[in-house]
Amino acid sequence: MAAATLTVYPEAASVHEGRLAIGGCDVLELAREFGTPAYIVAEDDLRARARDFLRALADHHGERGAVAFASKAFPCTEVLRIFREEGLVVDVASAGELHLARRAGYQPKEIIFHGNAKSEAELATIAELGVMCVIDNLDEIDRLGRHAAAGRELPVLLRVVPEIETDAHQAVATGHADQKFGLTLAEARAAIARLGAAPWADLQGIHMHIGSQLFDLAPYREAIEVIAGLGPFEHYDLGGGLAVPYTPEQRTPSIDEWVAAVAGAAHELLSARDKVLVIEPGRALVAHAGVTLYTVESVKRRESTWVAVDGGMSDNLRPMLYGAPYTADVADRLGSTEEPGERCHLAGKHCESGDVIAWGVQLRDPRPGDVIVTPATGAYGHAMANNYNGVPRPPVILCAGGEARVAVRRETLEDLVARDV
Ligand code: LLP
Repeated sequence: MAAATLTVYPEAASVHEGRLAIGGCDVLELAREFGTPAYIVAEDDLRARARDFLRALADHHGERGAVAFASKAFPCTEVLRIFREEGLVVDVASAGELHLARRAGYQPKEIIFHGNAKSEAELATIAELGVMCVIDNLDEIDRLGRHAAAGRELPVLLRVVPEIETDAHQAVATGHADQKFGLTLAEARAAIARLGAAPWADLQGIHMHIGSQLFDLAPYREAIEVIAGLGPFEHYDLGGGLAVPYTPEQRTPSIDEWVAAVAGAAHELLSARDKVLVIEPGRALVAHAGVTLYTVESVKRRESTWVAVDGGMSDNLRPMLYGAPYTADVADRLGSTEEPGERCHLAGKHCESGDVIAWGVQLRDPRPGDVIVTPATGAYGHAMANNYNGVPRPPVILCAGGEARVAVRRETLEDLVARDV
């Protein structure tokens, strides 16, 4: 097995005579036992990435900091529980994500609540629990203030848009001025003044999140330089955004390089060496821990070869939303690069021509009944799964040390009608 081929698989993946195992579990046996499509997650990889971020933050900053898991990347109670056990705090962006975080054991002081359109009920919960509220807009100041109990100070950060450009896909770019998130610099100055006069508000600092799947680190420095102009604060939350490779050809900064760049710029430009620094990775904590298993239903050979499987845009929307590239393999015929296989388009089962999980991937002799694996699907796959075409959502199976356990069961046909009245 050429090592290069496994680069976007979990570290806990191995191949024996062409057969893939994740966390010591043979994936064909997983497919037989749990069915397909299925999200298979290597628990050891989740823990290892959490430790990588914590170590990098300790090395490049010190003790006054925290790594917050952006739970939107993998909103699954068991994944959150594992990250809490590893010492991460959590970022939530809705009452639903808060519910999962609480269920996973997170205490209010370990939770950061985001959102550009927080509901009245969400603001009431934020005030009641006293979780860190990242204020997104000027309206929210008055709205949150109305929920604050007399004599109690609520910790808040300001989500500031640094008004810079990045290399993020336009759907997930959040550094530029004209967008729906955060406060512009002028609005941030107004917010600082208003919060300064509000007895209920404990303005601790500034939050920024400049985009997602960022390959280039230079904009972090630019953005940090901009927020420095808002005045000294004790607490800076610099968001997430580190890119991960989805195919072996993609090159991205390492976790250590990303943390070094972000913390370094904060020390230099925000005098933050002894301040609280928070980072909020999502994707980079979970993407490579997960693979998706599918079963081939049909193979059509025409100008191109079309391999159709039992999932698609209901379990992985990313290729359709962002043109995101993926690789794929036949799960028991992973092989050397000398025998690359046949160039195929890996299509889903949904009623749209654009329902293609991976374009132009090399598959070795694909046949109906084969199990196909797409690596690097741990981030924003389960998160954005849906029931298009009445397809039940896949289970989440955690694997470690040769043991597999169901963290989220497969949806059933009955689940699809469970909300009918
Ligand atoms: N913090 C905030 C405030 C965020 O909005 C996000 C992601 C993160 C942290 C984590 O960013 P990450 O480290 O994962 O890049 N569905 C898209 C990604 C949307 C990202 C939204 N915000 C995708 O599948 O690529």
